[in-house]
Amino acid sequence: MSDKFVVCIGKGGQRDQAESFARKTESQIADKPGKNLTVLFDSKGVSLTGYGLTYQGDFENMLHRVTNGRLQHEMLVRAAKSEKEDRKAIDATAGMGEDAFLLAAQGYEVTLYEQNPVVAVLLKDALRRAKKHPVLKEIAARMKLVKGDSVECMSKLLDPVDVIYLDPMFPARQKSSLINKKLQLIQKLEPPCSEETDLFDAAIKAGPEKIIVKRPLKSEFLAGRKPSYTLNGKAIRYDCYTL
Ligand SMILES: C[S@@+](CC[C@H](N)C(=O)[O-])C[C@H]1O[C@@H](n2cnc3c(N)ncnc32)[C@H](O)[C@@H]1O
Repeated sequence: MSDKFVVCIGKGGQRDQAESFARKTESQIADKPGKNLTVLFDSKGVSLTGYGLTYQGDFENMLHRVTNGRLQHEMLVRAAKSEKEDRKAIDATAGMGEDAFLLAAQGYEVTLYEQNPVVAVLLKDALRRAKKHPVLKEIAARMKLVKGDSVECMSKLLDPVDVIYLDPMFPARQKSSLINKKLQLIQKLEPPCSEETDLFDAAIKAGPEKIIVKRPLKSEFLAGRKPSYTLNGKAIRYDCYTL
């Protein structure tokens, strides 16, 4: 039984979805939000609440990054640039899908793998809402979420893939700031990462043209592997492996 969070069904919440989520995660359904973390299903969708904060995924926050010519300035988009049409990408560490959204805005068909059930249910709900949004829907239509361990899933791929993207770790716990509710609440869940070497090896075996890894600027290479080239930003960098 999960003691990390409880499930709560608020007004207008999808009871079937909440009950199935509680069963699969072996968590309790409570009448009101718990004193720690609560996955709340209500008329607005699914959100994570606790410690006086509420977080809900919302791709509308990403619109300013993909409109008015700004998409091409995104480092990840520069790292994933290709002349090829009908490109396919895997985001093997989806999180809340923001980076995958940039790839989808660039034209990639993206399969997103997320193993943490709470993150996955929040992402699924954010994608559901994006698919109804007049502007976001065209991008969200190219995003497919698969719940589960990407190391396992990548070993069973049937179709070829052009790019595999890895961003395995949320940065180390940061000082509380009301601005970044996402990290504050999500970091309270189980530590999210699988073995970096396993992820990297599974990505190589899947045989993409390129693997792109997001790293904090000063950190070591993922699994100690030297990239073909790197794009550096102010706080992060993208290590690119062309295969
Ligand atoms: C730093 S977050 C990714 C953030 C994401 N790039 C974004 O833009 O929102 C890392 C995520 O990868 C997930 N993860 C780590 N290893 C995984 C694996 N083997 N399979 C699926 N998901 C994994 C974690 O649960 C976590 O949600």
